[in-house]
Amino acid sequence: MQHIFKVGTDLNKPVLLLLHGTGGDENDLLPLANIVDPTASILSVRGNILENGMPRFFRRLAEGVFDIEDLIFRTNELNQFLDDAANKYEFDRNNIVAIGYSNGANIAASLLFHYADALKGAILHHPMVPRRGMQLPNLDGKNVFIAAGVNDPICPQQESVDLKELLEGAGALVEVQWENHGHQLTMSEVQAAKAWYENKFN
Ligand code: MLT
Repeated sequence: MQHIFKVGTDLNKPVLLLLHGTGGDENDLLPLANIVDPTASILSVRGNILENGMPRFFRRLAEGVFDIEDLIFRTNELNQFLDDAANKYEFDRNNIVAIGYSNGANIAASLLFHYADALKGAILHHPMVPRRGMQLPNLDGKNVFIAAGVNDPICPQQESVDLKELLEGAGALVEVQWENHGHQLTMSEVQAAKAWYENKFN
């Protein structure tokens, strides 16, 4: 997968896996990672799907309606890419924290839904439930931060409420920050994510 890897100044920190929103690319979330933890290594990935020229991490049939077969395939592809990247760049495969926005948050949530050991934790900005009616793996002790909009027209509030419940049902520790700016990724939620991250991973 097309990506950027930047080695950090503190190799004990988690590797921040950056996953952009629809139409973005691997450059989009670099400034955000720099705010959350300027000392961490960064692995920023571009989604392999193109929807009318816009990169995404998996196909959808309509807005908010996911192609589940493709979601499963792409989640596995990303998980394997993480294995390969950890070998190539010699970082600890068990020390990856994802930061995803929108479609990128959804593939990060899908990693958690399908693989017990894909991620150590995740910051999900404006996510949805990636897949319903499935048994989640044991996520005991995984830390997840969700930032969502009470008035987000693309990723409705209830999606984050349900996502929190499903992750907690699998044993994850989930915190939610509510915002009031639609689908926008706001500086206040990034600052809240940073405070959460510092508390969990420093
Ligand atoms: C998705 O397709 O993953 C969600 O609807 C959010 C988005 O538009 O990226």
